Amino acid sequence: MLQTEELLQLLRASEQFLSGEELSRKLGVTRTAIWKKIEQLRTEGYEIESITRKGYRLRKAPDILTETEIRIHLTPGTFGASLTALQTVDSTNNEARRLAEKGAPHGSVVVSEEQTGGKGRLGRQWVSPPGSGIWFSVLLRPQALPEEITGITLLSAVAVCRAIRKKTGLDAKIKWPNDVVIGTKKVCGILTELSAEWERVHYLIVGIGVNVNQSAFPPELSERATSLSLETDRPVVERAVLLCTILEEFERLYKQYGVSSFPEEYRANCITVGRAVSLTRAGKNIKGFASGVRDDGALLIQTENEGTIAATSGEVVVQGIYGQAI
Ligand code: BTN
Repeated sequence: MLQTEELLQLLRASEQFLSGEELSRKLGVTRTAIWKKIEQLRTEGYEIESITRKGYRLRKAPDILTETEIRIHLTPGTFGASLTALQTVDSTNNEARRLAEKGAPHGSVVVSEEQTGGKGRLGRQWVSPPGSGIWFSVLLRPQALPEEITGITLLSAVAVCRAIRKKTGLDAKIKWPNDVVIGTKKVCGILTELSAEWERVHYLIVGIGVNVNQSAFPPELSERATSLSLETDRPVVERAVLLCTILEEFERLYKQYGVSSFPEEYRANCITVGRAVSLTRAGKNIKGFASGVRDDGALLIQTENEGTIAATSGEVVVQGIYGQAI
């Protein structure tokens, strides 16, 4: 069977026209099979020129998150080797959980063009319309105790930051613990879910949502949310390219730091530190000054009455970020 990926790779690699004959020879299929595949690619949005006696040339690839398009850009490794690319799903975290329960391997990735029930942190909704962002989940199966996995959400934020910088040049930063922001607005949210018993982690699902193509946000979100296309003047990077760069960086960091630690780079990029913050946890509100991030990932807050406290969870409002004040 003709591999669409191989055909696309040949077309992408050539600025010249490639004849049907040459393609059929290289891929070991008939010219009719090549023609049929070209027609199918066109229906998916690939702009492919064809000229009699000259052959085919790829003019433009669409910004789609199909398995073929993702595999073209994926660096061989564990993250994404098992890949599920969907058009629509309730939540990629839910789908990753369903696959995990059926035994899907470490590093499995689920991505969807649209989520109908996208989930945010603290029970919030994550709006995930088709074509506008990258909504995906990575399944991890670390050999660890539940209390040992404190670094993983921080690590995933560093991976997203690195990938956004690399591919767009934007100065992506982190709001503790793992929102990725550009300026004062959020461009990416991460929801980590856990399946564990006291003695052992069964699996972790790191769900990442990156706003890429939105040209506007509803009024209630416009002060706190942004997208890569709103922040950059240049044409936005293809989502498949950015997704694969995040996966590559995430896998590299995971191999280096595991689930319990994180690089110094996290602290260097954390915009929460050095600002006035207010923490809400267990119904109580505490105001203070964020002085650092502890090695286990906890946010250190200097308070007037309670000394320095370490926040391991909870909602933190940061002065000046997301248009919020303390
Ligand atoms: C947050 O900042 O509140 C976390 C948002 C996490 C959104 C992503 S999109 C992919 C994955 N699937 C979900 O349902 N949620 C996460």
